Amino acid sequence: MDVVKIPTTPNGEMDYVEFENIIDKNRPAIINANIGTTMKGAVDDVDKIVEVLKKHKVKYHLHADGALMGFVLPFLYNDLSFSRYIHSISISGHKFLGVPFPCGIFMVEKKFKEYIVQKVEYISSLDATIMGSRNGHAPLFIHSCISKKGMDGFREDIYQCLYRAQWFTNLMKSKGIDAWINHYSITVIFPRPSDELIKKWALATENEISHVIVMPHVTKKLLYEFLDEYMVDKESNKIENEEDTNIEYIDNNELSATSNEIITKKNYYNNMFHNISTIGLGIISFIYFKFIKH
Ligand SMILES: Cc1ncc(COP(=O)(O)O)c(C=O)c1O
Repeated sequence: MDVVKIPTTPNGEMDYVEFENIIDKNRPAIINANIGTTMKGAVDDVDKIVEVLKKHKVKYHLHADGALMGFVLPFLYNDLSFSRYIHSISISGHKFLGVPFPCGIFMVEKKFKEYIVQKVEYISSLDATIMGSRNGHAPLFIHSCISKKGMDGFREDIYQCLYRAQWFTNLMKSKGIDAWINHYSITVIFPRPSDELIKKWALATENEISHVIVMPHVTKKLLYEFLDEYMVDKESNKIENEEDTNIEYIDNNELSATSNEIITKKNYYNNMFHNISTIGLGIISFIYFKFIKH
């Protein structure tokens, strides 16, 4: 099966113009719409996707990858349902649902399930799993998490998370940080800090951005604590960068007549150290092989 990646707009959402240009209009397609992208929490607009597909009379199966937000968005608006255009959806159990081990929910329209259902004589039942087996604990834990918190409990959690995520974005912005958030999202995006801070807070980071996902356990206190450290980190990086830009440059012509590259003093001393160590190692090896080995 050919896989085609559709480019995204800067907020992480599918670029519908590119989608229309790229999609092969002469054959059916399986579309994977992102209901909350991993890094930016962007939600693809299913209406716009379907509009393009219908315009070009393309037969399709529309899957919604709702790993995190598949359990959040239905509480905010009622649009994520099979009665519209989605044929299947997947939701992680260990994300917003809070199951303490990796598991998930895959839901599909009944007519598709029938393709994989098989009667298994020795269990006197139907097997509707893709792999012919599944972890029996997962549905029990998922059921327990949902019934313990209940619809009202989840609704409350979700509103609180949305509120805190927006609050934290505004707080970061008020400190001069280039933070932003997608509409109806709990993922706050900001410029990546130092590697030490990324490691300490286990921040998901991709290229120049990192994020914080404001889940129910992420309190204002924790966010303040993180922001304090982020600010200190930002300031010390700024000072380091300023120091770097203040480094006196040495024209390489002074060092080598054949090259006119410019290198910094720091690099110069590093190179010198490297050369001295290499020469030193060479002399030691020479002494070893010449005088000691035999
Ligand atoms: C959009 C999206 N899809 C899929 C996954 C993977 O989900 P799981 O951990 O349930 O395999 C993630 C995880 O971050 C995700 O963000």
